[in-house]
Amino acid sequence: MAKKKTAKLILENCELDLDIITGSENEHAIDITSLRNKTGYITIDPGYANTGSCTSDITFIDGETGILRYRGYPIEDLAGQVNFTDVSYLLLYGDLPSPEKKSMFSKSLRKEANIHEDMKRFFDGFPINAHPMATLSSMVTALSTFSPSIDSDEENTNETIIKILAQVKTIAAYSYRKSHGLPFIYPNPDLNYIDNFLHMMFSDSQENFHTEPIFAEALDLLLILHADHEQNCSTSTVRMAGSSMSNVYGAISGGIAALWGPLHGGANQAVLEMLKKIKNDNSDYKKYIALAKDKSSEFRLMGFGHRVYKNYDPRAKIISEMAEKVLSKLNIEDPLLDIARELEGIALKDEYFIKRKLYPNVDFYSGIIYRAMGIPTNMFTVMFALGRLPGWLAHWKEMINSPHFKINRPRQIYTGQKNRSCKK
Ligand code: CMC
Repeated sequence: MAKKKTAKLILENCELDLDIITGSENEHAIDITSLRNKTGYITIDPGYANTGSCTSDITFIDGETGILRYRGYPIEDLAGQVNFTDVSYLLLYGDLPSPEKKSMFSKSLRKEANIHEDMKRFFDGFPINAHPMATLSSMVTALSTFSPSIDSDEENTNETIIKILAQVKTIAAYSYRKSHGLPFIYPNPDLNYIDNFLHMMFSDSQENFHTEPIFAEALDLLLILHADHEQNCSTSTVRMAGSSMSNVYGAISGGIAALWGPLHGGANQAVLEMLKKIKNDNSDYKKYIALAKDKSSEFRLMGFGHRVYKNYDPRAKIISEMAEKVLSKLNIEDPLLDIARELEGIALKDEYFIKRKLYPNVDFYSGIIYRAMGIPTNMFTVMFALGRLPGWLAHWKEMINSPHFKINRPRQIYTGQKNRSCKK
């Protein structure tokens, strides 16, 4: 039998052998679970850039070479070959669905798409200009009040997952309708997931569904590309919140809140606002490249850079091609796409960006497509949330079923005041 690999830690007077864990793609980690008990020490890693919080079978990323695979399938093969609900099934259950499973999954998503009638009244409590991410996060927590407490058996877990997948898209569409003073449109059980979402967003009040086929194609692709990205900030939030055995709706709501930030999913809204700002400033993109490099300025090139990718984000490449396709199919000339291309062209040749390995990420071109579809800028991160939802649920499910399941509770090194007295 091959000898188990270990790492040796020499600390003051003690030596400790720590197991090495190797993943299926030959990634290595040092298992420090015994460290504090044996030495009294902990590790510290602000931003967790060197810290693995779990092992996972769901998604593999090699950021150095720009590889992304869901359950072993390269993202380039999935995109355009299967649809978003197939990818959701793949993430949740480990394999692409058979025709029979696909039809069952699709039927249950259609069946569960309506939210409780009483929930519709909740939308009236939000101001008309409420950010749809705030509405979405609140309404997902509110969904839990209409669901009886969940037994943790497999059947109940799967039913809850289906409900969340089916109903969050309804809430997303209703929050758009509400903020535009439009009547809600009920989900149509004859339509698939993507068409149903577009129907609830854009059908007229006679509920006649019509859309450009390219919109459905682009949206399906965008949601697939956003569907999972291993232990990113929002997924880690879902795992963190869910690790207390909290209600899954609450954990997902926490994920939505984490996604909203401009360093994460909120970057798609920030990119479009940045492009508009540059356009209104005589399209002087060189000025903004200089600003992004200027350490005395807080400006960053939004949609650029990534914690994991030190190469071109494979999702950005596919989205950039789709943006071109959508605009040309619809005969739209969008000056914002030209500005984005100019920014990318300059940045990829600039020493600052080359040295730091900063490339366009998933958020750089997605807004150009959403804008062409008539989706308002403040809804962009909601679209990201819809895409990421199956990933969040797959991670939550993997976590609660893991034999290593534990509440997540990091430690700290205290740097505050030492013991002192307030007695007079
Ligand atoms: N523009 C200018 N400089 C940048 C940028 C940028 N977009 N991103 C990173 N840098 C610089 C940064 O100033 C630092 O420089 P130095 O070494 O001189 O201090 C260096 O690159 C490393 O950056 P970091 O902030 O330490 O890297 P990080 O891994 O902590 O942050 C990031 C990753 C995505 C938050 C960051 O690149 C960023 O703020 N990008 C813009 C926001 C964005 O597009 N976010 C979406 C991420 S992809 C979708 C998702 O995961 O949600």
